[in-house]
Amino acid sequence: MTRIPVTVLGATGVVGQRFVRRLANHPLFELCQLAASERSSGKRYDEACEWRLGGEPYAGFGASLLAPCEPEKALSPIVFSALDAGPARDIEPAFAAAGALVFSNASAFRMEADVPLIVPELNAAHLVLIKTQKARRGWKGAIVCNPNCTTTVALGALGPLYRAFGMELAMLTSMQAISGAGYPGVSALDILGNVIPFIRGEEEKVEEETRKILGTLRNQAIEPAGFAISAQCNRVSVADGHTLCISARLGGAPEPDDVMQALLDFVPDSAAYALHSAPHAFLELRGEADRPQPRHDVESGGGMTLQIGRIRACPVLGAKLVVLGHNAERGAAGGSILNAELAVAGGYL
Ligand SMILES: NC(=O)c1ccc[n+]([C@@H]2O[C@H](COP(=O)([O-])OP(=O)(O)OC[C@H]3O[C@@H](n4cnc5c(N)ncnc54)[C@H](OP(=O)(O)O)[C@@H]3O)[C@@H](O)[C@H]2O)c1
Repeated sequence: MTRIPVTVLGATGVVGQRFVRRLANHPLFELCQLAASERSSGKRYDEACEWRLGGEPYAGFGASLLAPCEPEKALSPIVFSALDAGPARDIEPAFAAAGALVFSNASAFRMEADVPLIVPELNAAHLVLIKTQKARRGWKGAIVCNPNCTTTVALGALGPLYRAFGMELAMLTSMQAISGAGYPGVSALDILGNVIPFIRGEEEKVEEETRKILGTLRNQAIEPAGFAISAQCNRVSVADGHTLCISARLGGAPEPDDVMQALLDFVPDSAAYALHSAPHAFLELRGEADRPQPRHDVESGGGMTLQIGRIRACPVLGAKLVVLGHNAERGAAGGSILNAELAVAGGYL
């Protein structure tokens, strides 16, 4: 089978490198173009950045020349964007207008009404917004987003529980890894032995995006889910993996055993099943009193499986638990590639 040519924008960064490693031997996609900023374009990949992942250095692409993030120089039918929101605001629409399906990790377009914001296991049907977007904007291609990494992790618990019981409100406190801030990100002097109780824009993203993803598709638009959600986001001295403590008031006030059973019984949207990057399980339950922990559990399912533990009664809201997920894999590169596989399987290319 001929593989589909793909480009990675922002290939030198934390997420970009994970894209390159995941795409190096992908059965459906052939990585043809690596692109980054003006600082890097024209350089060899191994000159422009330090490879910070395990496995083969630069995933075998060290000698590839970096292109600028311009459709004239780096267009492919599928484009993965690991750009920051600022540059993404101009660059992603340029690629979409030129005909690419752009799978974006940036926050720039996530909340636009005609942009699908997708976690395949939860809302595969929202991908149909691609058609609305193309018609409305007159683009040959389109932008498809995956959520903010903390939103993705929260959805590992909130998605299945909302589906099983309905939800009145949820409150969460995050402990977010340093790699979530990109490279070089937070300075060592600021984060070592410290907790930073502020991540700009993060709490608003979690609150809005969660309700969009769990919302209902009506008349080619998403009606956000009706529950209230409050997030408090913190940066902690962990390399990879966001840990979230969540309390929720669920419909019917289920006991902890019922909450656990609902999570065990969760069936992902069928469209997500056969995708190459889908993990063995969307979520796994931990029985130990002190798990999940980022150091031990974040790589489960190649960083694509969310881990849930400490399910217990909450004296204030009814139910509480801990969920952990890999910010740069499930929350970024892996999630984005899964979205592209879903779009191809759905005939959107
Ligand atoms: N890190 C995570 O865990 C995570 C999780 C979910 C979502 N995200 C989102 O993913 C995106 C990338 O994050 P990251 O952590 O990988 O950031 P990063 O490590 O700072 O990498 C940013 C990338 O964007 C490129 N870039 C910067 N300015 C540019 C410009 N003006 N034009 C073209 N390219 C430019 C950089 O290229 P140069 O090397 O040439 O400067 C680099 O390749 C962000 O939108 C972030 O919010 C990140």
